[in-house]
Amino acid sequence: MVTASEEYSFTSFSNLPFYTKVNERLLDLAEVGKQRNIVDLGCGTGGITKLIIERLQSAKDTVIYAVDHSTTALKAAADEIGDRKDVAINYVHSEAQNLTGAVKEKVDAIVYCNSIHYVPDKTDLVAQIKDKLLPNGIFAFNTSFFEGSHPEDSHEFFRKWMMRSLRILKREHGLSADKSAKVESRVQLKAQDYIELVENAGFKVLVNDFNRVEVPHEGWHHISGFSDWIEGVMPGVPLDKGREALQKGLAQIWEEMELKTIPRIWLSVSAAKA
Ligand SMILES: C[S@@+](CC[C@H](N)C(=O)[O-])C[C@H]1O[C@@H](n2cnc3c(N)ncnc32)[C@H](O)[C@@H]1O
Repeated sequence: MVTASEEYSFTSFSNLPFYTKVNERLLDLAEVGKQRNIVDLGCGTGGITKLIIERLQSAKDTVIYAVDHSTTALKAAADEIGDRKDVAINYVHSEAQNLTGAVKEKVDAIVYCNSIHYVPDKTDLVAQIKDKLLPNGIFAFNTSFFEGSHPEDSHEFFRKWMMRSLRILKREHGLSADKSAKVESRVQLKAQDYIELVENAGFKVLVNDFNRVEVPHEGWHHISGFSDWIEGVMPGVPLDKGREALQKGLAQIWEEMELKTIPRIWLSVSAAKA
């Protein structure tokens, strides 16, 4: 049986080939695989955890801490990854902001994919990340939620998609989004703010990379079924109604505009503890 929160999980989006490519790129930049102890922060349903496992050079000596505040996501990650005799995986139920208490050991790398934008007090979080790393440890994160992540040539699509979806929501369900209930991921930092955040914590930025990614229809379709996305673009709207309106609106606009892909910019940062 699929539970309500599994139904609105990140899994179907996370398994799309374009998304795997984006995160493989981050793991490349951070040279993930050489390290022994790795934290996958905001691991979700384990998409990145699996990529980390695949590139471990010596899985038998490696410990992965997969941290998320959603028990449903952690359970889905454990089910997806299954029993592994060769690598120790600790599923840690915690807010990222409580990293210090949640992971006792110091680690060689902390990977944080598409989740940093959720946390309001990023300064404290990045300080905890630095404390948790061994000397020369690597902190690598990426996000597609920052000011500038929507390229100019995607604006028309977004405007039309949102307008059409809101109209469908109103017409078919008599509902409107509550714009006053804006969530943290909608309050976006500039890329430069992210760099300064990391530098001010005492990290040396190794790579600071913008990657324009062509997101196919399936990407927008599946993200429309992810609870955090629905709550972000249609605050206060019941998930089932929000998903339905967004997916219907998407299908119509995609066809009308004869689209193949819509671009999005990912910021990837890899930094070393001095
Ligand atoms: C967009 S998903 C990304 C999941 C995974 N990193 C990936 O890329 O496949 C964001 C994840 O961050 C988790 N998350 C959001 N805020 C969090 C917080 N404050 N502490 C821990 N996890 C959080 C959510 O539960 C969700 O699983």
